Amino acid sequence: SVMREVTGINEMEQLLQRKLGINQVIIVAGDSDHSPWVKKELGLATANCMKSLLKGNNIIAVTGGTTMSSVAEALTPSVADGELLFVPARGGIGEDVKNQANTICSMMADHTASKHRVLYAPDEVSEEMYKSISNDPRISEVLKLIRSANLLVHGIGEALTMANRRSTSKRDLEKIKNAEAVGEAFGYYFNEEGEVVHKVQTIGLRLEDLSSVPNIIAVAGGASKSKAIRAYLKEAPTSTILITDEGAAKKLI
Ligand code: BG6
Repeated sequence: SVMREVTGINEMEQLLQRKLGINQVIIVAGDSDHSPWVKKELGLATANCMKSLLKGNNIIAVTGGTTMSSVAEALTPSVADGELLFVPARGGIGEDVKNQANTICSMMADHTASKHRVLYAPDEVSEEMYKSISNDPRISEVLKLIRSANLLVHGIGEALTMANRRSTSKRDLEKIKNAEAVGEAFGYYFNEEGEVVHKVQTIGLRLEDLSSVPNIIAVAGGASKSKAIRAYLKEAPTSTILITDEGAAKKLI
């Protein structure tokens, strides 16, 4: 639009794409750290982007978080011309119910008049439990759906904010701090180099599965998340579409 040209947002998007080494960046005006309505704009931009990607029937894996909750709010039945099925990307990672992927999935299904599946798995499982719950037929069915998702939409968080918001054990919190983690996405914590320094042990999508997901949208805004975004995108597939705001973008450039 003319507005985007005048404000230089188009130019910023191009610059950031090159800088982050990914194919597409979409920037909305403002900084969601300071203005709550910017998170709404992030939600709307993501809903539009999803609409452009969703033809026919789709399985969509989603994470939790307040940003993803604004995406859910912005979705309408017109987002797709076929059937949609929403699945949580991973099992519980210690979030409050309102921030959980299961909750976001059900909101998204409500808003789009489509279906969703729930992953009934405890937060943080032991190695033993991991094996036994993965074999439970109801759980393994959802896991199969997750691995066959053709779109993943996820948030990115600042590492310590996420670790503190979640039920993180004292030991893991120390580990995350000592490793100088700066970013987090779907239960993985990254340092500035983009290396995984900690992961929440749960079932569902693993980092190594991302390369086989045809479409990935990462949604995160606010100047406070700039380091987190940069760190995570060092390891993320280059096909990732980043939807962010001016606040984060200015710090990233
Ligand atoms: C979590 C996601 O639920 O939300 C994380 O699993 C993400 O990947 C986080 O970092 C972001 O939360 P928010 O509230 O900042 O959007």
